[in-house]
Amino acid sequence: MTILVTGGAGFIGSHTVVQLLEAGHAVVVLDNLCNGAAEALRRIERLTGKSVPLVKGDVRDRKALDALFRAYHVEAVIHFAGLKAVGESVREPLAYYDTNVNGTLVLCQAMAAAGVRRLVFSSSATVYGPDAPVPYVETLPRGRTSNPYGTSKAMVEQLLTDLQLADPHWSVVLLRYFNPIGAHPSGVIGEDPQGLPNNLMPFIAQVAVGRLPELAIFGDDYSTTDGTCVRDYLHVMDLADGHVQALGRLETPGLHVYNLGTGCGVSVLDMVRSFERVTGQSIPYRVAPRREGDLAAFWADAAKAHRELGWQAFRGLDEMIADTWRWQSENPQGYRR
Ligand code: NAD
Ligand code: UD1
Repeated sequence: MTILVTGGAGFIGSHTVVQLLEAGHAVVVLDNLCNGAAEALRRIERLTGKSVPLVKGDVRDRKALDALFRAYHVEAVIHFAGLKAVGESVREPLAYYDTNVNGTLVLCQAMAAAGVRRLVFSSSATVYGPDAPVPYVETLPRGRTSNPYGTSKAMVEQLLTDLQLADPHWSVVLLRYFNPIGAHPSGVIGEDPQGLPNNLMPFIAQVAVGRLPELAIFGDDYSTTDGTCVRDYLHVMDLADGHVQALGRLETPGLHVYNLGTGCGVSVLDMVRSFERVTGQSIPYRVAPRREGDLAAFWADAAKAHRELGWQAFRGLDEMIADTWRWQSENPQGYRR
């Protein structure tokens, strides 16, 4: 199949492109490079020996999308393109609704016009909201969201649900990611956040490599085993495989929703200690006040993805850390070297 990967120059998209190519699919990437790197795609070409055409353009640009669908025989779309920084979304809600919601709307309009009705969407565990019992299971209703980023994901889920209901020819897979970390085992591609990292793993990796002096642990007074927050971290390569397996589900029209996580909770302190043990690097840290909007603990019930997609997260925490560290230590400044 030829797959359009929007946001394919970003963290999860780039790893998914590798796995799509390895599975024998052809890929075209649409990315405006606001948080991605063309260098990632050049490295993927070297890694796989296959070409990855990059259309530098915006997912909100209908003309660019129409031209892309005319130029390539796209059979399905995996839609990663979006903005993802929670704090920034509170300060700039319009930018988030424009890129994430309007971007998906324009993409779906262009897909419908081109007769392409197969879509995999990057959703998030954040749509379960703060009151859901753990582990999160897909049968739970979407909960209340606490920031524009989360609301934009919930709105897109609703938009796609309504679209599929109105036109049953559509096949839509909503993938709710938990906390992706890690990097390709080659160390050639990985996560390269612009500016100060918001997320735990890239922050720890930048402390380890000497780009940042210390980690601030946001709160150690939660009701968890060691007082720090617990999350379900999964290897980005497992997450990428989940997208390849989700393509099979697109053969059946309908709306399909899956959690992608390991089902295991890891605390912030567990992560710091494991990182030190696996890499031999010390991670100086201090305990800081809680970060607004953080939940104490959540993890996935990923049984449905196993049952229906045959997907499971195989890579353990030590492998996630070792692969992150290979990428970060061999590329201390990310794609800028
Ligand atoms: P990322 O920022 O690394 O990748 C997103 C890519 O989209 C970037 O390459 C960026 O340049 C591109 N992009 C942004 N706006 C665009 C636009 N208007 N037009 C074209 N391209 C645009 O992020 P990621 O971590 O790879 O996340 C991918 C998707 O998964 C996002 O939708 C994100 O919300 C979702 N998600 C991520 C996580 C996570 O922890 N990383 C968790 C849940 C969901
Ligand atoms: C965050 C977002 C979530 C989004 C996801 C992927 C918030 C509240 N949630 O998830 O909506 O889908 O990123 O982009 O931002 N931590 C520290 N110090 C740090 C960074 C993080 O202690 O410097 C802690 C956090 O308090 C949290 C854990 O590490 O307990 C994981 O944080 P993070 O990687 O940002 O992921 P989430 O908060 O789960």
